[in-house]
Amino acid sequence: MTEAASTSWIIGASSGIGAALAQSLARRGERLVLSGRNQAALEGVAETLEGSGHSILALDVCDAPSLAAACEQLRGKQAQLERVIFMAGIYEPMTLSALDLAAVRSILEVNLMGAFNLLAALRPLLEDGPPCQLAFCASVAGYRGLPNAQPYGASKAGLINLVESLQVELGDRHDIRLISPGFVATRLTEKNRFDMPFRLTPDQAGDRIARSLLRPKGFEHHFPRRFTLVMKALAALPYGLYWPLARRAR
Ligand SMILES: NC(=O)c1ccc[n+]([C@@H]2O[C@H](COP(=O)([O-])OP(=O)(O)OC[C@H]3O[C@@H](n4cnc5c(N)ncnc54)[C@H](OP(=O)(O)O)[C@@H]3O)[C@@H](O)[C@H]2O)c1
Repeated sequence: MTEAASTSWIIGASSGIGAALAQSLARRGERLVLSGRNQAALEGVAETLEGSGHSILALDVCDAPSLAAACEQLRGKQAQLERVIFMAGIYEPMTLSALDLAAVRSILEVNLMGAFNLLAALRPLLEDGPPCQLAFCASVAGYRGLPNAQPYGASKAGLINLVESLQVELGDRHDIRLISPGFVATRLTEKNRFDMPFRLTPDQAGDRIARSLLRPKGFEHHFPRRFTLVMKALAALPYGLYWPLARRAR
């Protein structure tokens, strides 16, 4: 541990990439606040963390008042909340020909509305508090419309757009970060029935995210680059060239 550990709040820390990120940040001397809905899972992750002073704050990002109360509690307790990382996300593979509107609503509620709920709750801190880092985990699935990727893709495209706006509005005062992973082997991707190129382990992803967030500068952290650069190139193509390539993946 460094002498004066800074505090990072991870929302979506009870499993997968968020849990691995918590472990990686703790190894680097950060003090963690872990959030998610599953209290027992959060306690399990907290037990694996190096260092001391970590805490748990169970919450649901769809519950705006409880997020606001959590922010208030953290503001009162922590000398300085230096990093807030929104990792919460859910996914269901779905084709547009078999839309399940209840699932669509849930995915948009967590992945996109959850981020807005967090921002609303953080307003006092963003307006009156010292500069802090605000990081949101989107996905390369949000770069461009992909086959069989809705509504997850739409939620992540919306999140990318939101974080870009944040960077324009608040980036000269706060450190805004966008995290764009490729495939990572978690319970979320267990549902996929297709080959996932260059898939990483949660530990590999957590380490990459931790290293990038602790760097003083940067906006988007996308990885693994041999995959995400291809996705970025596809996203830059004119529609006429993109459609035939994207249709091959149907
Ligand atoms: N795995 C990949 O290949 C991949 C690729 C790109 C982006 N991502 C993104 O990475 C993030 C982490 O996903 P993962 O793969 O690590 O999956 P995961 O293991 O299922 O983790 C998702 C996390 O989100 C939390 N969460 C879900 N709904 C929540 C809610 N309503 N309120 C609070 N927390 C909630 C979960 O905690 P509780 O269940 O305890 O609430 C869990 O900690 C997600 O945003 C995902 O979209 C993943």
